[in-house]
Amino acid sequence: MGFPKGFLWGGSISAAQIEGAWDEGGKSPVSVDYCTAGSTTKRREIWYLDQNGQRAHRYWEPVDELDEGCRFKLFDDLHYTNHVASDFYHHYKEDLKLFKEMGYTTFNTSISWARILPYGMKGGVNQEGVEFYRDVFKTAVEYGMDPVITLYKYDEPVSLLEQHGGWRNRAMIDEFVAFAKICFKEYKEYVNKWMTFNEINIIMPLDGQPSKKNQRNLIYLHNQLVAAARATIAAHEIDEHLKVGCMICGNMSYPLTPDPLDALKRYEKFQDFFCYSADTQMRGYYPPFAKRIWKQYGIKPQITEQDRKDLMNGKADFIGFSYYSSGVVTTHEIDANQTTEGNILGTVKNPYLKANAWGWQIDPIGFRHFLHIINDRYNAPIFDVENGIGLIEKEENGICHDPERIAYHREHIKQMRQAVDEGVNLFGYTTWGCIDLVSAGTGQMDKRYGFIYVDMDDEGHGDLHRSRKDSFYWYKKVIASNGEDL
Ligand code: BG6
Repeated sequence: MGFPKGFLWGGSISAAQIEGAWDEGGKSPVSVDYCTAGSTTKRREIWYLDQNGQRAHRYWEPVDELDEGCRFKLFDDLHYTNHVASDFYHHYKEDLKLFKEMGYTTFNTSISWARILPYGMKGGVNQEGVEFYRDVFKTAVEYGMDPVITLYKYDEPVSLLEQHGGWRNRAMIDEFVAFAKICFKEYKEYVNKWMTFNEINIIMPLDGQPSKKNQRNLIYLHNQLVAAARATIAAHEIDEHLKVGCMICGNMSYPLTPDPLDALKRYEKFQDFFCYSADTQMRGYYPPFAKRIWKQYGIKPQITEQDRKDLMNGKADFIGFSYYSSGVVTTHEIDANQTTEGNILGTVKNPYLKANAWGWQIDPIGFRHFLHIINDRYNAPIFDVENGIGLIEKEENGICHDPERIAYHREHIKQMRQAVDEGVNLFGYTTWGCIDLVSAGTGQMDKRYGFIYVDMDDEGHGDLHRSRKDSFYWYKKVIASNGEDL
């Protein structure tokens, strides 16, 4: 027993969080290029000019656009961590070599839409961007990896937000499919596993309020679900060997009390946050409880006959997901000091779990539990694309001890192994931020996830040199033993 032969081991990164070179190689700006870093207690902010031309800022969101009359703008006195990030754009050969040294058999990154079609369909293809990724994927394959590539990770070109007003406009569906087709055609020689939208469910409303923002997000989500299905159909037409997965943000949660209302709330959270998107992508139609959700938020997305056909014909081939921590749900009043942060979502503290500095509760048993839930529900191949822990670390003379990271992954891999032994159809595992990069939620470089240290901090100090943390050698051993030597 144990992990099957050919189980994929590797790491996961994303274009906007690692590449830097934000205005090089023909790339156009994306919304995180206008964002500054937060901290352990503060989310990151996006900066712009408001309707009166005044400097303004607010929290960044995974799908970002500005209100009518506002404009994205850079300010000289601010530091934007994504502009340089880990500078993978100029270091990718070195980084892929380090991944090879760890023995990766796969790796996951996303393609920056703004490098391929910087101004959308009307601006045409940026060949420099196309060639950049060709060399990244070719090199990864030469190094023995079977890459799994994500098309969208909250980074549509700002030019498209300006042209179309963002995902509320169905024109974005055609734009996305055009982008996807270019990627499938250009890279099919090297990449046969794809994922459409990273954590497509991250914008799902959860507070039950029929606010404008929640209604807007349900429309965005519908348009993205249709875009994902159409891209999947296109991939299968371009090459029948291409496998296209969905990618859903995992969230394991528990009821705080045995009050049936707490248990029901927990279940509804699972339905809303995970299943609304995953069911639609894996089964080809919205689940029955979507009616409750649409009623609750006072909106029903416009679903055309063509949308229905496309959702059905463009079902995902596998289910990709992320898992970091778990949460607790209650209908009872609780004090503010009983809450903590999580993966974008705040939650109630769990007294049985420890948390990292950002309050993300560490729960390896929840990971096994969650693997079973999705295995039972979808009966399809599963790929864990993201799992990891953010830590504050310092490297000295090329040495960085990270026992907490090793312990985190050891416990999660143990539980994952048990799940596989118990019948879960998992075919791969990529740890999040396998090399230090910019945090999505707080925009920090100082929130580190990597096995590889990158010398860069939140203020822009550092020479970007890479060094191997203790976890680098540990993960190498794990891969070499196919998950036995933990
Ligand atoms: C996942 C995202 O939800 O969480 C990643 O897909 C992100 O992009 C990761 O980086 C960790 O979150 P954070 O906020 O610590 O970067």
